Amino acid sequence: MEYFQKVLLINGSPNEKGCTYTALNEIAKVLDRHGIESKILYLGKQPVAGCIACSHCKRSQDHLCVFDDLVNKVLSHSDEYGAIVVGSPVYYASASGQLIAFLDRLFHSSCGRLSGKLGASVVSCRRGGATATFDELNKYFSISNMPIVTSQYWNMVHGRKPEDVMQDEEGLQTMRTLGENIAWLMSCIAAGRKAGVPSPAYEKQIATDYIR
Ligand SMILES: Cc1cc2nc3c(=O)[nH]c(=O)nc-3n(C[C@H](O)[C@H](O)[C@H](O)COP(=O)(O)O)c2cc1C
Repeated sequence: MEYFQKVLLINGSPNEKGCTYTALNEIAKVLDRHGIESKILYLGKQPVAGCIACSHCKRSQDHLCVFDDLVNKVLSHSDEYGAIVVGSPVYYASASGQLIAFLDRLFHSSCGRLSGKLGASVVSCRRGGATATFDELNKYFSISNMPIVTSQYWNMVHGRKPEDVMQDEEGLQTMRTLGENIAWLMSCIAAGRKAGVPSPAYEKQIATDYIR
């Protein structure tokens, strides 16, 4: 099967090679076995700017964020990716602050560019808050016409250090199954495109605010 697009895996942990990376890397290995190229994007340790609701991305011709950082790099290369996986450590039963700041701006300035790509979330925690964080991250995809890829269990691994995650056999298997499902769905979409299946034709979006 011929694949046309890569997978972007976003590591939302300040620990470059920590638990979240270990989970994402398990997915990347499966994708590699299927001949699908992937890239793990590390957001770094520096604070990431949050959305300032300036609407620059909506008004400007290039539809890029007013803060010219990794968000704009991802948007500028979005054509290359058929799937986006976001990974986060659990911080107080939520995703990391950096990742939320990054995703708020990425999705707000996406202006339809991420539509039709597959999305998946993975989370890493020591003990609790994984499903709340998993739900939180999936919300970005479910408002963006991005089919969410699932696995045999909710996509979580457990540990304080990568060595702990390596002992979480079920968690790692869940990651491998997710990788299989991403590869399978990308293959189905590629086959559909080749056979001439059109992309969905969307109506002009209606946006109503709850005011009278
Ligand atoms: C500020 C902070 C808050 C945390 N909150 C939680 C939490 O709510 N639940 C939990 O199980 N682990 C929590 N942890 C632990 C991390 O989620 C866990 O060690 C994770 O696997 C680290 O992933 P990483 O190595 O990719 O950074 C927290 C860690 C930090 C630094």
